[in-house]
Parts: sequence; C-alpha cells; structure tokens
Amino acid sequence: MSNREARAALEWLIEMGADEALEETSRDRFRAPEARAEQASVPAASSQAQNSMTPAPPTARDGHRAQGMSAPGMSDAQPPVWHPGEQGPLQPAEAVLQNARDAAAAANDLESLHEAIRTFEGCELKRSASNTVIYRGSKSAKVMLIGEAPGRDEDIQGQPFVGAAGRMLDTMLESAGIAIEEVYITNILFWRPPGNRTPDTREIGLCLPFVERQIELIRPELLLMIGNVSVKTLLGTTQGITRLRGKWFAYQHEGLSAPIPAIASLHPAYLLRQPAQKRHAWRDMLAFRAVLRGETKPEIG
Ligand code: URA
Repeated sequence: MSNREARAALEWLIEMGADEALEETSRDRFRAPEARAEQASVPAASSQAQNSMTPAPPTARDGHRAQGMSAPGMSDAQPPVWHPGEQGPLQPAEAVLQNARDAAAAANDLESLHEAIRTFEGCELKRSASNTVIYRGSKSAKVMLIGEAPGRDEDIQGQPFVGAAGRMLDTMLESAGIAIEEVYITNILFWRPPGNRTPDTREIGLCLPFVERQIELIRPELLLMIGNVSVKTLLGTTQGITRLRGKWFAYQHEGLSAPIPAIASLHPAYLLRQPAQKRHAWRDMLAFRAVLRGETKPEIG
C-alpha cells in the first residue's frame, strides 16, 4: 500500500469512528473465518504470543468494531464477519424496546437506574462505545440539561459534555452564574454513535425510557433541551431547533404527575461552528436563569 493509500485508509477509519487504539498491536480481521476459529481455540501461550500479529479470539465488541473495516488496496480480503455469540440470539425490535421500558420502570432510585442503563445490552451503540455515559453534575439538582449523545471525549472519559462543546456549555453556565452543582447534565443517548453520526430513531427509542425515568426520579423544576435531537425527542416534534429555541414548552409524559417547563436552546457544538449564533444561545440561557431564580415565570406557548 502506498503512503497515500495508507493515509486514505486511516482517514476513512477515523471517519467511521474507529479513532481510538484499543491494543498495542493490530488484529488481522481479514483472515478467513475458519482460520480465526482455529485461532480462537488455541490459548495464548505467552505474552510474546499475545504481542505477535496473531489475532485473539474475536469478541462481540471486537467484531462490531471490525464490521465493514475494509480499506483501499485490500480488495482480496475476506469480509469481516460478526458472530453475535456473546450477545445471545438477536431479539426482535419490539422485545428489546420492552426490555428497556421494563428495566427503566423497575429502577426505583437513581443509582438503580444508572446501573440498569450500564447493564442494558439492547442498544447496538454500546458495542462500539468505550464507556456508558450517563450524567455529570448533581443528583439533587433542580434543573436538568439534556443534550444529544456522547462525542469522542465523553466516550473516553465516561461523562457528558467534557469536550470542546462541554467547555463552552460550562462557560455559559458559569457566566450566567449557574453552578455545576445546580444542574444534572445528561444526554438522549448513553453511548457514542460511531464517528459522531446522528443517532437513528431505533437507538433514540431504546434510550428514551431511561431518559424519561431519569426525569421522573429527579423531578427537576426546569429542563433545558440542548440541540435538535434533544428537543425533537423530548417534544416529539419534527420542527427544528432554530424555530423552537428560546421558547418554553410544558414537557409531559405519562410517568410525571405534572408537566415540567422546558426551554430549547442551540447546541454548543453548533455554536463552535457558528459563533454568530452565540447571542441567541446566550439570550436563552438568561431566560432560563431568570425562571430558575424566580425572577420571571415561563411563558409557555
Ligand atoms: N454533545 C452532546 O450532545 N453531548 C455530549 O455529552 C457531548 C457533546
């Protein structure tokens, strides 16, 4: 492979979300399945064997990462095959969704809910993620901030909004005089979509029962919905964030005894790309603070 081809292959991998080295050496995922099966039955005899180019037995997670990892110049390779052995038989979508609903409903406190999220195996995103990312801030907060999904930094550190977008969010909160101890920050998704792609409706649907249960258990006085995915999911609307931002809504679902005032605002990642929009987000933050501090009442349209 020429340098140019190797570089193109690397860039492609990064774009697909394979942007993190998990092991010292790479695994040859292009060997024929029989060869890999043989390999899997031979235990690694020594650390030297481990460090060679010999592939270790594939795990479900490994397999998922490997899916589709062909690269320019590798046309004679065997297509990688994912064996879902460790996950058990794949369940129909409705059954998995019911599992998510049951697991969320069975959690009677926040700790059990966090554990239920961590042990939930129904969302495919978990297989390519490094960490389950649940929350940051205070469990007894009066307000919840709900973003979209973990990005690369969040996936590595296991906490929401800790990358560049998170730093911008923290700066905005701090400038508005809102302490991190006053908020509970979470996302609609608990696992990073590969390559930060937009999550699909199935992935969102599987996480939603857990998001709703978090809202029920925290019972925040206010919600701040950050970005398109958050506002569309929580309000069940197809309207975009630019139309909805700065407006107050009555957020409700059946597990809540009363609706919660919720305001939508622009995502800090968008603000990093479009700095001219910061003034809108700042206006939203001030409106949010004024209601939080009891200076105004939310005008729910
Ligand atoms: N963007 C989000 O929506 N959430 C995060 O946690 C990080 C970036």
